[in-house]
Amino acid sequence: MSLLSNHLRAFLGSTFVRKVTAGGHNRQHSLVRSMASAVACKRLVGKVAVVTASSEGIGFAIAKRLGNEGAHVVISSRKQANVDKALKELRDANLSVSGMVCHVGKAEHRTKLISETVAKHGGIDILVSNAAVNPAMGPFLETTEDQWDKIFDVNVKATFLLIKECVPHMKTRKGASIVIVSSISGFSPFNVLGAYSVSKTTLLGLTKTLAAECGPMGVRVNCIAPGIIKTKFSEALWGEETFLKQSLMTASIKRAGEPEECAGTVAFLCSDDASYINGENILITGGMQSRL
Ligand SMILES: NC(=O)c1ccc[n+]([C@@H]2O[C@H](COP(=O)([O-])OP(=O)(O)OC[C@H]3O[C@@H](n4cnc5c(N)ncnc54)[C@H](OP(=O)(O)O)[C@@H]3O)[C@@H](O)[C@H]2O)c1
Repeated sequence: MSLLSNHLRAFLGSTFVRKVTAGGHNRQHSLVRSMASAVACKRLVGKVAVVTASSEGIGFAIAKRLGNEGAHVVISSRKQANVDKALKELRDANLSVSGMVCHVGKAEHRTKLISETVAKHGGIDILVSNAAVNPAMGPFLETTEDQWDKIFDVNVKATFLLIKECVPHMKTRKGASIVIVSSISGFSPFNVLGAYSVSKTTLLGLTKTLAAECGPMGVRVNCIAPGIIKTKFSEALWGEETFLKQSLMTASIKRAGEPEECAGTVAFLCSDDASYINGENILITGGMQSRL
């Protein structure tokens, strides 16, 4: 984070930023929290959902929301301790969940995630591909081949291979849905996150291409592109007020988003309320400018 902060400092400099009032932010924040705790719809009862990278952050919020809407959710991430902690919190909230370790970059982990889910729960209705890494910060042209390979292996290749392996188990289900997590940086690249941004742009193309092929099989494939959402991953972008103001320059809602604000959109996309939506991308950015 400090590395990113330093790079951001260097790149952002002292550019003028618009004022964000702390009072306004706090009011909106508590509104988001109360909305999230008041989920009343049960659109996903009987569904089996797999969410990658779901022991914290956006993935955890998605898992919680899908569970709240009635799905059985299989959570996963690289570390058993993180999975166990998340499982406890979700079970304490009376949700139907199970979990296992899955580093999405490892073929044997992906296969186990899918085969165990199918063996224990009879199939897969929902897949949320949420995992991503970013080992490179700084000028794009300084990205090393190793960094490029890691970013594309985890963010793009693993997403494709996971979906490829899941679809045979999904096309036999009614109303199956896949959601890929991209980013605003896929539309408007972040200065210091060049390769990561390109990988997120690639996910937009992946979504369209998969949707065209999977739609006729009865499996919808859509995408979300979050803006600045308050998680560990993006702390350098929202942790310091100066950076947050700079990051939100083109946003019309002058605050960082909450993971729950991504989760509601994913639940919608996975539900029959979105039964005629395929190959789309929904930006969750507080109105940040986005155009490819
Ligand atoms: N936060 C934002 O502002 C923002 C904006 C746009 C897009 N996004 C996207 O949203 C997604 C989630 O980000 P986040 O902000 O929620 O991150 P986060 O809060 O840092 O959470 C990351 C989660 O991913 C898991 N994880 C990391 N590497 C993994 C891997 N290779 N395989 C499986 N699990 C892995 C972590 O658990 P373990 O450590 O146990 O693996 C953790 O559960 C990413 O695709 C990111 O690009 C985030």
